[in-house]
Amino acid sequence: MCGIGACLSLLGLNVAPKVLKMIKNLEYRGYDSAGLAMITPDGIIDVRKDKGKIADLEIKLRFSEMKGFIGIGHTRWATHGAVSKRNAHPHVDCSRCIAVVHNGIIENYIELRKELEAKGHIFTTETDTEVIPHLIEENLKHHDNFFNAFEESIKQLKGAYALAVITLKDPSKIFFARFFSPLVIGIGECEYYIASDIPAFLEWTRKVIILHDGDIGFVSKEGVIIKNIFDNTIVNRDVITVEWTKEMAEKGGFDHFMLKEIYEQPVGVKRTVMMTEKQMQGVLEILENANDIYLVAAGTSFYASLHGQYAFSVYGFKSRAIIASEFIEEVGSFIDEDDVIIGVSQSGETADTLKALRHGKDKGARILAVTNVVGSAITRLADKVIIMGAGPEIGVAATKTFTSQVAVLNYILLEWAKEHGYDVELLLDKLRNRVPEDMEATIRETDEAAKQLVEMIHKKGNAYYLGRGLGLPIALEGALKMKEIAYLHAEGYPAGESKHGPIALVEPGFPIIAVVLKDAVYDKMHIAIEEMKSRGGYIISVCEKSDDKTKKLSNFYFDVPTGYSNILAPLVYIIPLQLLAYRTAVKRGCDPDKPRNLAKSVTVE
Ligand code: F6R
Repeated sequence: MCGIGACLSLLGLNVAPKVLKMIKNLEYRGYDSAGLAMITPDGIIDVRKDKGKIADLEIKLRFSEMKGFIGIGHTRWATHGAVSKRNAHPHVDCSRCIAVVHNGIIENYIELRKELEAKGHIFTTETDTEVIPHLIEENLKHHDNFFNAFEESIKQLKGAYALAVITLKDPSKIFFARFFSPLVIGIGECEYYIASDIPAFLEWTRKVIILHDGDIGFVSKEGVIIKNIFDNTIVNRDVITVEWTKEMAEKGGFDHFMLKEIYEQPVGVKRTVMMTEKQMQGVLEILENANDIYLVAAGTSFYASLHGQYAFSVYGFKSRAIIASEFIEEVGSFIDEDDVIIGVSQSGETADTLKALRHGKDKGARILAVTNVVGSAITRLADKVIIMGAGPEIGVAATKTFTSQVAVLNYILLEWAKEHGYDVELLLDKLRNRVPEDMEATIRETDEAAKQLVEMIHKKGNAYYLGRGLGLPIALEGALKMKEIAYLHAEGYPAGESKHGPIALVEPGFPIIAVVLKDAVYDKMHIAIEEMKSRGGYIISVCEKSDDKTKKLSNFYFDVPTGYSNILAPLVYIIPLQLLAYRTAVKRGCDPDKPRNLAKSVTVE
């Protein structure tokens, strides 16, 4: 949801190329328009912005030729106002003395705008953000000091924001503020970076300050000054060194981040299992004493959570996975202090998930968070946190974080089942030692098959993804991948339910992707396949290597290693479906890393 990148060089070096690189590194957060603002050596603010992808704008607007040792940049995912040049960030005040980049939504912008217009401010955009530079300009009328005017303005804002601001009134500082939307500061060699996410500046520094809600301040020769507006005091935030490396946030020879991230899954899962093992202290105690357990998440993280629910149920543990944006209306009134909510979020910043968790926390429930991002908002809400080892995920479509989330939930479950007397040593051993190897083989083998199938499927307009039991979350996730990056209408459905309506659409050649596990519902999956087949459906199965019966029923199949018709299934079964979506997107000329209308980290409700 919009990417902010800002840089200050204490040596007076030109920072435009770095600001540009930062917003490019954050393009996964939004990419409908982009812009930079620099304080130039001649003492003006140079603003260049337009709609379009950064690479095109770079040529058109010559961003890297901009001059100045202090600059801010933005890559946009529109919330208020059309995608247009004037609505692109940065936004300025009437006197062009203040430039602002913003991520989030200012909820009271209509009132503020009316008040400011009444005072003579001229607005030139449809955005909520534009009220901020005008508001600061207005408050400067009764403050000599820019920071004081900035602080007063921030206190008047309602909603969510991460901001970076430069001004000719105090031209050697970058001002910042954070409330709900993420913002971090990178401490480099004689340089400061301010960004929405750590990968923006990983190539220059791994030293990071994670800002908290209510933090405002500035970077300058004096260092990093942070004040929390709720405590009304200057605060010291720890500088942490992140373990992510620059290589992790680069494509490393792959055509797209998504493909690289699919291929990184075996390593990600291995690291995640090792890390989860070290973070288990207190987890089982929380679960053991729970009355009700809810898993709360959005999108792909929801499908990992749904897997959690089905897997918990295999061992007789009751839990319920709920879509974060439905949580309050669906079960909010039942939550109390005896309940546990497991919040699952790659970014740790998804507004819907955070809102559901805050609701639960206010009612006294304990919160267990599973996330990929150290210091993200979810980690500050939770009583206990498990950080995954997937590494930074840059492709907008979640892939390696899905399998890492499944690995965490499975690991927790197996430890819990062990406590309850189940003999799960073999599965635990497999998760620790065998799964990465089997994932690697699955990637290698099914990528070739995906390339073949693409020749047929890329021409289709629709597909069903069917699964039952543990196969259902895999089918749902497979369909989401296809839909979001290849723009092929793919619907995930419980196989048994497909005869109650969806089958009406099936005609000769209609693709049916069937996720077939050799478990208690194996025969029932075959019944659903037969029903589709007898109406001409083109059956594409994902099944175990030894499952000849399913292969015979199918027009095409992907086989995964035998021995995964259990809670470990998603770790291998999802791989061909990720690869099929990726290969279809490429074949259809779509950019899998930047699907239209989507952005990673959905920080608005
Ligand atoms: C799908 C995808 C989204 C996210 C969802 C939740 O590929 O990336 O559906 O899964 O927005 O995001 P997190 O996990 O960051 O809470």
